[in-house]
Amino acid sequence: MTAEAFVRSVQLLSGENGQRQVGYPWELPAIEALRSGLELHPKVTYLIGENGSGKSTLLEALAVAAGMNAEGGSSNFAFSTRDSHSLLWRSIRLVRGARRPRTDFFLRAESLFTAATYLERLPREGGDPLASYGGDSLHEQSHGESFLAVMLSRFGRDGLYLLDEPEAALSTQNCLTCLRRIHELVLDGSQFIIATHSPIVLAYPQATIYNCDEHGLEQVAYEDADPVRLMQSFLGARERFLDRLLSD
Ligand SMILES: Nc1ncnc2c1ncn2[C@@H]1O[C@H](COP(=O)(O)OP(=O)(O)OP(=O)(O)O)[C@@H](O)[C@H]1O
Ligand SMILES: [Mg+2]
Repeated sequence: MTAEAFVRSVQLLSGENGQRQVGYPWELPAIEALRSGLELHPKVTYLIGENGSGKSTLLEALAVAAGMNAEGGSSNFAFSTRDSHSLLWRSIRLVRGARRPRTDFFLRAESLFTAATYLERLPREGGDPLASYGGDSLHEQSHGESFLAVMLSRFGRDGLYLLDEPEAALSTQNCLTCLRRIHELVLDGSQFIIATHSPIVLAYPQATIYNCDEHGLEQVAYEDADPVRLMQSFLGARERFLDRLLSD
């Protein structure tokens, strides 16, 4: 039986007096599209789209609206190294299910280093804060190893997890490990929202995929997703592809 979603949908609220807000992030088509509401899959929802299409902006707003730290981490993380995250989170409404997540985590490959430093500086009274991350300092592991340690040791049942480009840290083999871990956690009642460019990370079958582009947000099938089609045509006819790409 499918566990009920922690966050069932997300909607962009109108500004004061119903006015449209201008500039970043309001005018990104993917954000505009939230006006009509975006349904989230109870297991896995993917956000795909070109660089700059708004995936991280949306994920960050979801994370903050759900109580997590904008730069990564769980609801308990209280660090901030920059103030560049948008105020979008204040203008979105999360439609929550009846269940509450037991735990949560916003995992961003790009800011894992900062989250690791924060963890190391936490006071040790009341137990080693690293114990739930596999016991070793995340700084003393490679980027991919520390990313996996968080997924394998810190993530647990009934969690709400937001991942931003896990493939930025992981080898191809470990993208498969990541999929396997997503599966275990989904079976244990967890919900994921994942921004990715990787056809492997994107492959979890019980999922909804939304493509962000200049038209907004559109649901697509795995086979029709750009990262999949492009990788397939590249690997299927590499020489022909390269001939065309590199022709004078
Ligand atoms: N703090 C900011 N202020 C102004 N514009 C921003 C800010 N952060 C991002 N943008 C712009 O908003 C757009 C969406 O950025 P975002 O990081 O959400 O894209 P993305 O889909 O996650 O891209 P990528 O695949 O490269 O990670 C980009 O054009 C970016 O330049
Ligand atoms: Mg991004």
